[in-house]
Amino acid sequence: MLPGQVVWITGASSGIGEELAVGFAAAGAKLVLSARRPEELARVAARCAGAEVLVLPLDLAKSDAFEGLVPRVLAHFGRIDLVVHNGGISQRSLVKDTEMAVHRRIMEVNYFGTVALTRAVLPSMLAAKQGQFVVISSVAGKVGTPLRSAYCASKHALHGFFDSLRAEVAKEGISVTMICPGYIATEVSKNALTADGSPTNRTGEDIANGFSAEATARQIIAAVSAKKSEVYVGRFVGKERLALGMKRFLPGVLERLVQNQAPK
Ligand SMILES: NC(=O)c1ccc[n+]([C@@H]2O[C@H](COP(=O)([O-])OP(=O)(O)OC[C@H]3O[C@@H](n4cnc5c(N)ncnc54)[C@H](OP(=O)(O)O)[C@@H]3O)[C@@H](O)[C@H]2O)c1
Repeated sequence: MLPGQVVWITGASSGIGEELAVGFAAAGAKLVLSARRPEELARVAARCAGAEVLVLPLDLAKSDAFEGLVPRVLAHFGRIDLVVHNGGISQRSLVKDTEMAVHRRIMEVNYFGTVALTRAVLPSMLAAKQGQFVVISSVAGKVGTPLRSAYCASKHALHGFFDSLRAEVAKEGISVTMICPGYIATEVSKNALTADGSPTNRTGEDIANGFSAEATARQIIAAVSAKKSEVYVGRFVGKERLALGMKRFLPGVLERLVQNQAPK
């Protein structure tokens, strides 16, 4: 990553996105910070001391507004070099209990919102013949696990979309980096939706004991600079990293292990 690049981060008001903002600022980037809560974005902007920051609130579930946001970024900074699709919500509910509206909500925020912002930014990157999309997927984007059907589906869908986009635009100077974090200590499980769409309001044990968001951001920025196509980030040794290896080489064993995690 070169100093002076314009980096647009969604979900910048908390967790991984917040630490990415601080990390990219330290690397000399100019930042566009987006999420729904302007006051939290202002707090994060204040942590990015020395960087030029544009706070641009958006709701990933209201993608009709995105076409209008891109000209505002271009008017302010002149270009968009990198978009970090980080904003998202998780889930903690069984398929048999989960309302259809919850499935739709998670797909709207995690998948359709991300697709819509990509569509809005892509023309400016094609015209500039350069750019990079960074997508914060998850180990759940590779492995389906209990209580996270919609979340896993939304993250798996991102891999399909962005693998296709990568193939379409590689020759135009545009790259795609898929990031698959393991358990990271953030608000993700507190904000995760239950069967009726209300948040859990509690931090699960795996997340409470997760890898730090700050160290995760450092690993992500290294992968982005190296223009990796897909990378795991998080604890070097952990069950989620093991799961990725097993999915590839021992899928049957992984299937049985994941089944044993299912609530009885
Ligand atoms: N923590 C983990 O263990 C883990 C593991 C794998 C992947 N991830 C992924 O990492 C990303 C960041 O999550 P996190 O762990 O940092 O959790 P977090 O602390 O809950 O942060 C989520 C961010 O997404 C934003 N967001 C949520 N709904 C939104 C909406 N409708 N429109 C715009 N922004 C929205 C939130 O901001 P507002 O509330 O202000 O809108 C917040 O900034 C997510 O995509 C998550 O799936 C996390």
